[in-house]
Amino acid sequence: MKGLILSGGKGTRLYPLTYTRAKQLIPVANKPVLVRVIEAIREAGVREIGIVVGHTAPEIKDALGDGANWNVELTYIRQDSPDGLAHAVKISRDFLGDDSFVMFLGDNVIEGGISRLIRDFADNNWNSQIVLKAVGNPSAYGVAEMRPDGSIKRLIEKPDRPPSNLALVGIYMFDRHIFEAVDSIAPSARGEYEITDAIQWLIDQGYSVYPHVHKGWWIDTGKPTDMLEANSYVLEEIEPKIDASAEIDANSTVDSRVTVQAGARIVNSVLRGPTVIGKDTCIENSYIGPFTSVYHGCEIRNCEIERSIILENSRLLDIDQTLRDSLIGRNATVKRSDSKPSGIKMNLGDHGTLWV
Ligand code: DAU
Repeated sequence: MKGLILSGGKGTRLYPLTYTRAKQLIPVANKPVLVRVIEAIREAGVREIGIVVGHTAPEIKDALGDGANWNVELTYIRQDSPDGLAHAVKISRDFLGDDSFVMFLGDNVIEGGISRLIRDFADNNWNSQIVLKAVGNPSAYGVAEMRPDGSIKRLIEKPDRPPSNLALVGIYMFDRHIFEAVDSIAPSARGEYEITDAIQWLIDQGYSVYPHVHKGWWIDTGKPTDMLEANSYVLEEIEPKIDASAEIDANSTVDSRVTVQAGARIVNSVLRGPTVIGKDTCIENSYIGPFTSVYHGCEIRNCEIERSIILENSRLLDIDQTLRDSLIGRNATVKRSDSKPSGIKMNLGDHGTLWV
């Protein structure tokens, strides 16, 4: 069994953060989503992993290298343009050979890992296994229409009128028959070779496609609100830990669900978990509330923050109001200004949003 992670694509819904960065590298609970995907695949016993990369290839290679840090073997597969998930499978043929594989979308986060799914797939003679999850907004995803006996009747990509609330999760298992399928389909109305159509082709040809309905949480981190939600879920799951090199002064209150990473400094502040404070970050005279991840090298003074993600080397200084439900990029500065004339001043990136 091999692994295939899809990490190309454009990430337009996460602009401006993804103008300069691969969306799969944005951290959730201070760990890039892509690293979470690699760890989930490794924990299921799969060590040979191909990563499909597009224009953000250099940054992804920089972050992951040959995979040795995670005890896996990574092979990079270049996709020149994001022509669809089935196209990504097609160009990975040399790497995959005739092996069965698990394909994991590099922006998906799922509760509970995939070990059981891989075991079930290995123990049965299915040609494919897909994962479904009941959601409130099925039109945003591939959707499955089921038969009364629980088998799949039809799969449709982002339908206007969804036949069910069962969305396709971005985790798929295939045997070599998927290559016939991806060679047999035509591009969809949006011009992409859809994996949904390739799986439909398998069903139409009489191949067995087993639908596993996932009961835990699942997030496709496509939009900022999804990132915040995934961050909250993962923070609740991680084992809290205060690194020995972190400094927390006697005037600070840090509850038991807070993680403080190496070299961080907490001065006269209240930290309420689940929350994570990154390496070498300094928090002073501040309140960091539940469901917040502050990444490495940040400086936060005289602020109150709840349910937010702050990326590396950003500075939040002397803000009067509580910052909530916010996603702040790298090297950003948010600070109080007392200069006249008063009013809100901003230097906002393209596609950024500011709520006042
Ligand atoms: O997340 C689940 C959904 O993922 C499924 O319900 C849909 O059926 C499936 O089509 C897919 O929809 P998205 O619109 O969310 O796919 P997205 O374009 O965001 O791409 C998913 C991942 O695959 C992302 O990490 C980028 C990567 N990708 C995407 C394309 C189109 C590639 O590596 N190559 C590509 O050509």
